[in-house]
Amino acid sequence: MEVTRQATGLGGRVTGVDLGAPMDDAAFAEIHKAFLDNSVLIFPEQEITPEQHIAFTRRFGDLEIHVMSQFLLPDHPEVLVLSNDKKPNGDAVGIEDAGRYWHSDLSYLEKPSMASLLYAIEVPPSRGDTMFASQYAAFDALSDDRKEELSKLRAVHHFGSRWNKETGKAGVRPKMSAEELAKTPPVDHPIVRTHPETGKKTIYVGGFCTGVVGMEEEEGAAFVDELSDYASSEPFRYLHQWNAGDLVMWDNRCAMHCASDYDPQYRRHMNRTTLKGDAPF
Ligand code: OGA
Ligand code: MN
Repeated sequence: MEVTRQATGLGGRVTGVDLGAPMDDAAFAEIHKAFLDNSVLIFPEQEITPEQHIAFTRRFGDLEIHVMSQFLLPDHPEVLVLSNDKKPNGDAVGIEDAGRYWHSDLSYLEKPSMASLLYAIEVPPSRGDTMFASQYAAFDALSDDRKEELSKLRAVHHFGSRWNKETGKAGVRPKMSAEELAKTPPVDHPIVRTHPETGKKTIYVGGFCTGVVGMEEEEGAAFVDELSDYASSEPFRYLHQWNAGDLVMWDNRCAMHCASDYDPQYRRHMNRTTLKGDAPF
């Protein structure tokens, strides 16, 4: 196994490993360390079934089942489908326009996701890329005064607000049901969080944020938007251009990500597993 680090410290490329094969504890420990060191790992040229994808994910912890149940694989609800395929009746097979805003997965839960593992089955010849931004680097680049100011604040995160914004935009998303909305009430998390495994500080905001605890609605919304823009800006980024067979794993506790659009005449079909995480502190 070989891990090639990017100059930015975000996104390690791991070659010489078959994620579909049984993996001993030493090999897993090496991957786990690389994950903590690089925040994003790229495993090219993988050929894995949903069962193997789930089994590899399970090495890291418990899996999440996504709230949008119509986009889960029927036999494997741990797998969320991102796709522009349609069923014979015209219904979407997966989320077609997933994540086209900077965010950290499931930040709207009391216990947001630790990590996500996205496996590309088919990708368009160009675009449909995913960008990542290091929230360690974004935090480190702040002035001491700004670090101090942000450390006292908590942001409000809400899934339904974002979902309905996206529904309005592209018109490809179904409205959330009352039951789905009830399952994801607004929560708040510290804007500066400490990574529970590395002990390093990171910024924790993004596209599910609707405001700041204690601020007027509009002021809070503008504050989190501006901070998310800063935290996802160019110097902190890694751009991933997909090939079919790539499995990309990212740490939601210290990296944000954002998908780009693509020409819908091409198929983009991916499976995602998601790891449960702990309440941010
Ligand atoms: C996700 C996501 C981005 C993409 O799976 O969490 O945001 O590029 N996807 O599809
Ligand atoms: Mn996402």
